[in-house]
Amino acid sequence: MACDNKVFFLPVNTGYGKSGNPDNRLIDFHRERSGNGIYCSIIGNVVTPKGFGSNDYCLTITKHKNWKIIAEEILGNGSVPGIQLSTAWKNYKGNQKFVSSSSDDFSQYTEQFLKVSCSEIDEVFDDFYKGVNLALNAGYKHIQIHAAHGYLLSLLVDSVFCENSHYTLTKLNELLDYIRSQNSESSVRFSLKVGIQSIDKIRQEGISRILQLNSDYFDISFGFYNINKHLIYPTSVSMLKSRYDNSIALANQYPDKEFIFSGKSLVNFEGKLPSNVSLGICRDLIANPKYLINNTVGCENNKQCHYFSRGERSLSCKKWLEKN
Ligand SMILES: Cc1cc2nc3c(=O)[nH]c(=O)nc-3n(C[C@H](O)[C@H](O)[C@H](O)COP(=O)(O)O)c2cc1C
Repeated sequence: MACDNKVFFLPVNTGYGKSGNPDNRLIDFHRERSGNGIYCSIIGNVVTPKGFGSNDYCLTITKHKNWKIIAEEILGNGSVPGIQLSTAWKNYKGNQKFVSSSSDDFSQYTEQFLKVSCSEIDEVFDDFYKGVNLALNAGYKHIQIHAAHGYLLSLLVDSVFCENSHYTLTKLNELLDYIRSQNSESSVRFSLKVGIQSIDKIRQEGISRILQLNSDYFDISFGFYNINKHLIYPTSVSMLKSRYDNSIALANQYPDKEFIFSGKSLVNFEGKLPSNVSLGICRDLIANPKYLINNTVGCENNKQCHYFSRGERSLSCKKWLEKN
């Protein structure tokens, strides 16, 4: 894929921290994965101050000095410091399996937030504002709101999962306007497909409402974590193709919106990306931080990075560690 478009290092939940605070491993990780052609380097799945992580090793945004140090390192290398803010919910349990074997796993999504009240949604947003302010004060210039992968906001913005989704979208728009007023970029990450056909058939209108938000970028992802992780980080050519085809169709439908596309660096696809599309890269940059300079070395699907599914505490990568 020829690429003159911007490149984002996409959010990665690394587990590089202690007691919810980032440690030196995260500083090193983003120092290495900024500059070298990366427009923006986004820290993954950082929990809002009173929010809930998707596993025990998630980091939380606080006034801890390392948040500022990472932002300075990324900026010093010439990239925009980005952070993805997220929350799950009390008692959320991330599924270790790649593919869920139980239909109960889906009912947690369809049942529990359908009747959530506007005042409960207000509480969620109060916490997002606190998280956004902490991130801005630490020097982050791109704030990504995580509304994908079956985390809380992905349900609250979607009328299939929440009857007050209109209210959530109004609140989210206000938050995005606030981020812009503070001279920071924003993006909203959402799952274009949940991965359950009967649900995906009725989500078109919900997707079009997300795309009306005042976000600088719309980061197209796929899948819900507790249903089928293959959709989140596909490896097969057919899944990558379907992800690309669906993303292209959306970007063509909304030529005035800015999108981020991802999926193994789109290497299988010939041609030029549309001008309203930036390239998002995750695994190839984990495997080779200088992937944009030498793309002959990249992710080889060893799956070692999926530390939570492997019962480990933090990210590792065979290919990357081979070189260190
Ligand atoms: C180890 C690992 C951790 C990830 N953590 C996050 C995360 O915290 N938040 C998120 O939105 N996506 C996360 N993702 C998904 C990536 O951001 C990306 O969308 C996906 O891997 C597809 O891009 P790729 O083919 O370039 O890897 C993670 C992916 C991997 C492999």
